[in-house]
Amino acid sequence: MIYTEKLPTAEQFYELFETTGWNKKYELTIEELYLALENSWYTISVFDNEQLVGFGRIICDGVVHALILDVIIHPERQGEGIGKNVMDKLVAKCKKHKIRDIQLFSAKDKAGFYEKLGFKNRAENAPGMEMEKF
Ligand SMILES: CC(C)(COP(=O)(O)OP(=O)(O)OC[C@H]1O[C@@H](n2cnc3c(N)ncnc32)[C@H](O)[C@@H]1OP(=O)(O)O)[C@@H](O)C(=O)NCCC(=O)NCCS
Repeated sequence: MIYTEKLPTAEQFYELFETTGWNKKYELTIEELYLALENSWYTISVFDNEQLVGFGRIICDGVVHALILDVIIHPERQGEGIGKNVMDKLVAKCKKHKIRDIQLFSAKDKAGFYEKLGFKNRAENAPGMEMEKF
C-alpha cells in the first residue's frame, strides 16, 4: 500500500467518490470534482496495486484554519486502519505548519471515528453552521 501526496486521476477519484453517495446532493461533474481536488492545500491518496483505495484532503489558509474533507476509504477496504492512517497524515501536515485549529464535518454515524482521533463536537452555544440554499 502506498500513501502519497500525488493526486489520483479524475476517473479514479470520481469512482471512489461515487461509493459514498454524496454526489446525489452535489451533482458534481468529474471535471468539477477534480478541480476541487486540485484546489486543495494538501491531499493524501492511498493506492494498492494502482487502485485508489483511500483518500483525504485539506483546504486551508496556511496559518490559522484548516478544514479536512473527503476522507473516503473504499467500502471493501474499510476497517483495516487506512482511514486512521490518512487522518494521522492530514493532522501531521497541519501540525508541521502550526495551523491553529482543524475543522471537519462528520458524515452520518461517523462521529465515533473522529472522536477516537481526538476530535470533539463544538460547544452547543457555538455550533458549526452552514447554508446550502442561497
Ligand atoms: C469513516 C471511514 C473514513 C473510516 O475509515 P476506516 O479505514 O474504515 O477506519 P479505520 O479502520 O481506520 O478505523 C479506525 C478506528 O475508528 C473506528 N471506526 C471506524 N469507523 C467508525 C465509525 N463509523 N464509528 C465509530 N468508530 C469507527 C474503528 O473501529 C477503529 O477503531 P480502533 O482504532 O479502536 O480499532 C470509512 O468508513 C469511510 O470511508 N466511510 C465512507 C465515507 C465517509 O463517510 N467518510 C467520512 C466523511 S466525514
